[in-house]
Parts: sequence; structure tokens; C-alpha cells
Amino acid sequence: MCGIIACRTPVPALEFLLPGLRRLEYRGYDSAGVAVHTTTGAIARLRAVGRIETLQKRLPGWAGPDLDGVGIGHTRWATHGAVTEQNAHPHNDCSGRISLVHNGIIDNAGELRAELAAAGHVFESVVDSEVIAHLVEDRFDELGDLRAAVRAALTRLRGSWALAVLQGTTGRLVVAAHRSPLVVARGEHGDFAASDPAAITEWVEHLRVLRDGDVVELADEHRWSGLEAPLAAPPAVPCTWSAETVQLGDYRDFMAKEIDQQPQVAARILDELGPGIVDGAVWTGLGLPPLRRIHMLACGTSLHAGQVIAGLLRRVGGIPVTLSVASEVDEEILEADTLTVAISQSGETADVLRAVEGSSAASGSPLLALTNNPHSTLARRADAVLSCSAGPEIAVAATKTFLSQVLTGVGVALSGLVACGRLDTTRARALVTELDALPDRLATAALTANQLLPTLAAELTQASGFLFLARGTGLPYAAEGALKLKELTYRWAQSYPAGELKHGPLALVEAGTPVIVIDDGDPRMPGNLAAVQARGARMISIGGPGCAVPVILPRATAGPPPWGPLETVVPLQVLARTLALALGRDIDKPRNLAKSVTVE
Ligand code: AGP
Repeated sequence: MCGIIACRTPVPALEFLLPGLRRLEYRGYDSAGVAVHTTTGAIARLRAVGRIETLQKRLPGWAGPDLDGVGIGHTRWATHGAVTEQNAHPHNDCSGRISLVHNGIIDNAGELRAELAAAGHVFESVVDSEVIAHLVEDRFDELGDLRAAVRAALTRLRGSWALAVLQGTTGRLVVAAHRSPLVVARGEHGDFAASDPAAITEWVEHLRVLRDGDVVELADEHRWSGLEAPLAAPPAVPCTWSAETVQLGDYRDFMAKEIDQQPQVAARILDELGPGIVDGAVWTGLGLPPLRRIHMLACGTSLHAGQVIAGLLRRVGGIPVTLSVASEVDEEILEADTLTVAISQSGETADVLRAVEGSSAASGSPLLALTNNPHSTLARRADAVLSCSAGPEIAVAATKTFLSQVLTGVGVALSGLVACGRLDTTRARALVTELDALPDRLATAALTANQLLPTLAAELTQASGFLFLARGTGLPYAAEGALKLKELTYRWAQSYPAGELKHGPLALVEAGTPVIVIDDGDPRMPGNLAAVQARGARMISIGGPGCAVPVILPRATAGPPPWGPLETVVPLQVLARTLALALGRDIDKPRNLAKSVTVE
């Protein structure tokens, strides 16, 4: 939820820290800070509440010694302690000789703080991370070596960390990770570490992903170790995200770019998966046992993607599927032969990681991860990984990753059903043909949405609450539409099965209440809507011909496809964004949110 960057370069470190932090800002944007080694062997620390721009404006005010090429930076999403400069990272030890940035949560911070305070350490903030700086100081006083001190300090911690520690006197830089992502890399400009490859993708071609417990010193040689002993470095992997993919180009905001990319993303996924669906090869290639029953775990938008995939597995293959909100998974009891499927675009969502531990690990159920980050903690814990291949998604609101989760999940589900004999190849082939039409259908939906929604959204700026209705296969899309609207506009939005309205929520409807309907042609829908119209609601239907936003083109077969009206997600995303623009909201960085939620 926060972002970390560290660099060791021959040129001033700020030339890398600031652009890196800007690329990490989507991970958290409450405050930001840097600590840079100076030519006199001190540390210059600059922090600011708010965005990176505010920090940048402070830099010319630095009147101390010259800054050199070694530094660390952080952008924060507050968990422990208010959004204040004192609580912003980097955090220093008592003497200001050691400075640290940290992502994660230290579970035993309270007891360590009490112990260190009793030994005379003075704390500046209420943040758990500051405890680590003082622990390193404490260990350094005894061991006299930064790397040894970091390793010794880490053995005292319980929780999760990705951290970078800078020492003023020597300019040494040590990074470490445990249950929180961190990569290191060397490129022509120097050495880098970052919590997200997006931060450094412009400067490196390969990177190494830290394993749980790894400690690395970024020196002339990168020195790898665990907490106890030296270790071999993990293999370098190509940095697949090009610099261009994390830049805005001609777009106003990343959400606009990412909505627009969806037809291409769909075409790429279908090209990759298509041939292996009909012969079951996508499934068999994963090396998992035959499909019998499934338990899915996810949060937020990923949960909605899970609803689409679960519905298809039940509908097409008769596979029993349970789907849990990952933060509530303790309630589930798994049967034998259950495959756990965790869906998470980031692969770092704490609720998902904890649910996986409690569910898959405890029951011995194999784990399949569906994620957009094949280097993530979730991917590393899984028995098999399916990459969603959406490319980097920078806007906090998930758009193209939802689409990619749905299509990748649908592809592997159909392939699994073929492999276990629950779907014949003729029907599988027909379904693949339908899937292949989706990129064009999504492109048409985008055109229609961009034409119609600005006018419709302009009428809705005064509305304080919105209802989203659907039936059957449309329900996950209505839920996703309501979530997008809440995130982007800060207005209340709730989705309901249309048939459920008369059991209570109809009381919310009065003249002018906006009611967004995902109409996939269910014959019961007109009856449900009549009750809404009779009360004067402002109804906007999204569906086939005759709807206010007609994005579902006619199909050869009757009824919705087993993945439901996927095209409708495009106008729902456009509606949320357009309304948020009209209300003056920050499209890519909605208030109180962060891209990857690494706290439970
Ligand atoms: C989506 O727009 C949200 N930002 C959020 O609901 C997100 O989908 C959720 O936090 C899960 O994230 P994940 O897919 O990275 O696990």
C-alpha cells in the first residue's frame, strides 16, 4: 500500500528517487519522503504530507551539504498513525545516522518500542516502522556492521516487511523483505531496489525478486543472505514492463488509458489461451489434479471476477464452487478434493494471503493463483500460477485487470471442464468462437459508452445515491459497476438482484433516484423494472438494442453467454469515471484508497 525505492548511482540520487516515487504514488499518496547520503557522510531527510509534488517543492529549500547518489524514498498510505510529517517515512534512529523506509506491518512493534524506549531510545513518531530503525541502531552499536545489524534486528521482528536502510557514515545501503514484495536490479545507471518493478522499469532490463527472509546489500557486488547465513541470489528475470507501459501518453489519466486498452488486452489473452481451451491443455499444463470442487478467495473487484468464473463453472460444468470474501474466509469448511483458487491482481492483498494460509495450507488443498503479478507473494505460495497478462495497471480503480481476470479465469475454467470430461469439444469450440468476438464487442461498447455517457453523467451530478440492478449472469457486473462508482465519485451505490428490490430496497427509490440496470434480456426484468419506473426513478438501462446504452450486440444463440454480459462493464467504468470528472474527483487516486491493500 506504500511504495519503496532505493538507489545507488553515480549521479544525484534524486534524479531517480523522484521519478520512481511518482511511479509508485498509486501505491499510497498520504505523504512522501526521501533520505539521501551527503558528501559529508550525513543523511539529508526531506518529508512532506501530501503528494510527491509537495515534496519536490521542498527540495530547493535544502541548505545542507551536497547530496550524492545513494538514497531511499517512500510514498505512504497511512496505517499506523495519522497523516503527519512526523509519521512520514524515512524514519531515523536516535542519532540520524541510520534512515529507513518500510512497507508492511510489524506485529510486535508495541513490545519492541517499550523495550527500546526503556533502553533510552527516543521515538519521533507513532509508526511501527520507526521501531526497526532503532533496533538496527541498537544492533549496530554492538556489531559495528550495517548488514549484520539489519539481519540481527530482523530476527526480532514479527510481521511483514520490505525495507531499505541507509547508513550516513558509510553510505551503505541494505534492503530486506519478508512477506512483502521487493525487487533489486542493476542497470547502466546503477543499483536499484523497489517494492514495485514499475518504479525502476525505465532503468533496468532484469531484476531479482527477494524471497521471504532475504537481505541484500547493494554494493559493488550485491551481497545476498538470509537472516542467518549467506545465500545464493535468486535468478534474474526479465523486467517485462516497458517504460512506455507505465506512462500516460496522450491520455488525461491512467484510468482512461486502461479502459481503452481493454479490447487489446482481451485479444492478447484469447490469442494466448484459445488453442489450449478446446483440447484442455491450458488446464493440464498447470499440473493440478482433476477439477472436482473449488473454493475461490478474493476481495473487491477480484471477487466480482470470481463470481463470473464461479457462475460459469457451475452453469457449464456442474462443478460445486464456493466463493469467499477473503477477509471472512475463517467461516469456510473445505471438503476433500477441493482446489483453492485465489484471485488477486496484485498478488499482495493481505486478506487474500492470510485466507490462503488458513484455507489452502491448513487443508492441504492445492492452490491456483490467478494474478497479474507472477512475481508476487501469492504467486510464490501457489502450486500453480495463471498470469492475467493485463500489463501494469496504475489507476487505483481496477478496470483492465478485471477484464483480464474474467477472461483468463473463463479460459482456464473451460479448459479444465474439457480436461475432466464435463464439456465436449464441440461446445468448447463454439464457446471459444464466441470469446473470440469479444475484443470487437468491447471496442464497440467503448465507442457507444463514450458517446452516450457524458450527457447522462451530467444529469446525475446531484444524485446522492445510486442503485445498480441485474439478474443472473449480470449480477457480478452490477456489483462491479456500483463498486467503481463508489470508489471514483464518493457517492453511495448499491447493487441488488432486481428481484430482491421488492423485499426492501424499493423503499430507497423516489422520483429521480438513479437506477442503473444491467439488462441481459432476462424475461423477468421488465416486471422488476416496472416497479422502479412507477416510483419515478431515473432509470438507465445498459444492455441490448432498445436500452439507453445499447452495448450488447445480438448473438447467434439465445440467452446470455455463460460469462454473462461482459461488454456492460465498459459503460459502467466510463459512467464512474465521467461522473467523477464532473464532480472534480481525482480519477487515478481516489481518496482513502491505495492500489494494493497489504493490511488486513
Ligand atoms: C478495485 O477497483 C479496487 N481498487 C479493489 O476493490 C481491489 O480490487 C481489491 O483491493 C483487491 O485487490 P487485488 O485484486 O490486488 O487483490
